[in-house]
Amino acid sequence: MTVTRAVALGCGHYLPARIVENAEFADQVETSDQWIRERTGIERRHFAAEGEATSDLAIAAARAALAHAGIEGREIDAIILATATPDATFPATATQVQQAIGAGGFAFDVQAVCAGFMYALATADALIRGGQARTIMVIGAETFSRILDFTDRRTCVLFGDGAGALILRAEEGTGGNGDRGVLGVKLRSDGAHRELLYVDGGPSTTGKAGKVRMEGPEVFKHAVVKLADIAHEVMEAAGVSGADVAWMVPHQANLRIIASTAKKSGLPMEKVVVTVQEHGNTSAASIPLALSVAVADGRIRRGDLLLMEGIGGGLAWGAALLRW
Ligand code: UT7
Repeated sequence: MTVTRAVALGCGHYLPARIVENAEFADQVETSDQWIRERTGIERRHFAAEGEATSDLAIAAARAALAHAGIEGREIDAIILATATPDATFPATATQVQQAIGAGGFAFDVQAVCAGFMYALATADALIRGGQARTIMVIGAETFSRILDFTDRRTCVLFGDGAGALILRAEEGTGGNGDRGVLGVKLRSDGAHRELLYVDGGPSTTGKAGKVRMEGPEVFKHAVVKLADIAHEVMEAAGVSGADVAWMVPHQANLRIIASTAKKSGLPMEKVVVTVQEHGNTSAASIPLALSVAVADGRIRRGDLLLMEGIGGGLAWGAALLRW
């Protein structure tokens, strides 16, 4: 029996030119390079230039992914863009990308903050398997610097800007876990924890975009438990174990969360793609950014089984298995 699989054709990423080192925050708030490195693993992050919007980052990543896949924009049937920092309340930022790359079909945004790429990937997988689209571009793109409170040391040092894109295309598989493509995705959310990580504004409340607010240590505790659990669930459903995974490509919020999740999933740190030191937490962009970096430098090779996972505001979380 054959099944339809959403198979990776290529990926790409973009980071704004401006690099902000940890030490630069010490001019604005009571912090230090040492505290940020020790507590988070972050050393630097990129911030978008004035006038550079989320769509600009997404379009650059989309073009890089098209070049890597060796296809034209018109071959894309759908674009799903995960972001919590869209250009505007509407229209969807994805439609800007659609126009810029000359894609047809349809384009829309999804909002699950740091888990956004997992939600977008799950949606793309379902659309491809359901026959709605043959070739889908999934993007995570953020300009989180625009919603940071630069007087709050508990949040402003953590986040960065960037974009990553992945192109998936329908191919026939056997249905077994040796197939290339998306082998499984699990999503969860729990609105009871809304107050732990949120933005204090919005179109229907304050009429302003608002700023990020986070109870870091509480989110940390949820993250280490929920990510390990959902990683276990997705692996169990696909009939694989940590030993089968070539690379874990996690959301990049905190090196200590990444290390804890890897350990609980039975993966040594040598099998984990870590970019948090260079990018900080880029929310929905962090997983596709890490993926694209590791594909570009040759770590991830065709046939490798990838375990991706992320958690963020909502709380919303998810995990996916993709054989590259
Ligand atoms: O992507 C969405 C998901 N988000 C996450 O996964 C983030 C999860 N949380 C975390 O990564 C960590 O909780 C943080 C990195 C946010 C904070 O690390 P922590 O080890 O949990 O530190 P803490 O919040 O318990 O703070 C320890 C101390 C406090 O001072 P006192 O009360 O002990 O005197 C903080 O006020 O460090 C202080 N502190 C800072 N000091 C210097 C907090 N932020 C800073 C800072 N610089 N930037």
